[in-house]
Amino acid sequence: MPTPTPADKFSFGLWTIGYNGADPFGGPTRPALDVVHAVEKLAELGAYGLTFHDDDLFAFGSTDAERQTQIDRLKKVLADTGLIIPMVTTNLFSAPVFKDGGFTSNDRQVRRFALRKVLRNLDLAAELGAKTFVMWGGREGAEYDAAKDIRAALERYREAVNLLGDYVTDKGYDIRFAIEPKPNEPRGDILLPTVGHALAFIDSLERPELVGLNPEVGHEQMAGLNFAAGIAQALYHGKLYHIDLNGQRGIKYDQDLVFGHGDLHNAFALVDLLENGGPNGGPAYEGPRHFDYKPSRTEDESGVWDSAAANMRTYLLLKERAQAFRADPEVQEALEASRVPELSVTTLGAGESYDDLLADRSAYEDFDPSQYFGAKGFGFVRLQQLATEHLMGAR
Ligand code: GCO
Ligand code: MN
Ligand code: MN
Ligand code: MN
Repeated sequence: MPTPTPADKFSFGLWTIGYNGADPFGGPTRPALDVVHAVEKLAELGAYGLTFHDDDLFAFGSTDAERQTQIDRLKKVLADTGLIIPMVTTNLFSAPVFKDGGFTSNDRQVRRFALRKVLRNLDLAAELGAKTFVMWGGREGAEYDAAKDIRAALERYREAVNLLGDYVTDKGYDIRFAIEPKPNEPRGDILLPTVGHALAFIDSLERPELVGLNPEVGHEQMAGLNFAAGIAQALYHGKLYHIDLNGQRGIKYDQDLVFGHGDLHNAFALVDLLENGGPNGGPAYEGPRHFDYKPSRTEDESGVWDSAAANMRTYLLLKERAQAFRADPEVQEALEASRVPELSVTTLGAGESYDDLLADRSAYEDFDPSQYFGAKGFGFVRLQQLATEHLMGAR
């Protein structure tokens, strides 16, 4: 059985293992988890990083002294255990002031307050050495069409992210931003609902190089989308700055299950992409393997740590399975038969123009499309069965 080590770069949100079981239908089923204990347990389990929202570490409305006490306690346990803080994020969704969002609230005073909260937290992120600052805009959205001018909201979002980019640049902070899309929940509709929407938005920014994505497995799947394919496109645009791994079973509320406890086939494809999808068959993504899941409210504290370990074990098992899949000669032959490598050959030859294409009789006049009827199948199902058998450990 593979054992996680810090070299695997597994990280967890403090709000994930710290989830106390509260949902819209019932209160907590577990006591609060202290950050020092959380870091000690994560280190013991083989993780390398902890991430947090400001409000996870010190409650909203804490005095400066209370805030500092918590920061000092965190710093001490980091020094004691060797864990790091790869990413920090700001809670712009829990407090009543953010009920219509932070950066895009209709209320300008709220927007200014949200910016101040984020700037303060950016200073903390820099102080703790975090390299990524995630922006999940859970409350940036609406339930009613007349209630939100979407174009104005996008413009305010843009104004906010441009300002944050100026701030980290002027301060010399080594921090990049990662926008986390989600289609809905808690708002009826959230701005920047999918990877694709967020990519287009990033293109409109003043410092697009500072801003990428933090896609979450479950969030794309809530929109019925293929997560591994979305990640491939994020990588294609050089925008995979961070990732939230978890599990989701179809189009329903945000389940935040353990990684692999949802669509296991897609999790296999994802790990294969992250680990073996690089230009030379190496990793396509070097950043943290960050889990944003919720230990189910049915679990007690030992269940919390079992579920944390389960995320990492599943990831490592999928990594092993994906390596075996790639190394299998029958898989390589099936990939050839499916003409997968042929998609990397350019459609026109080097220097070929549309005039040359028009002059090429073999491309049209002498080409017989009818030969594809009943023949020339691609064999994709065989390939998928080989993947399935590797995934099941049957090969
Ligand atoms: C959610 C989101 C959050 C974010 C977190 C970090 O659906 O609740 O996934 O967990 O990831 O706020 O910004
Ligand atoms: Mn989620
Ligand atoms: Mn998330
Ligand atoms: Mn979540």
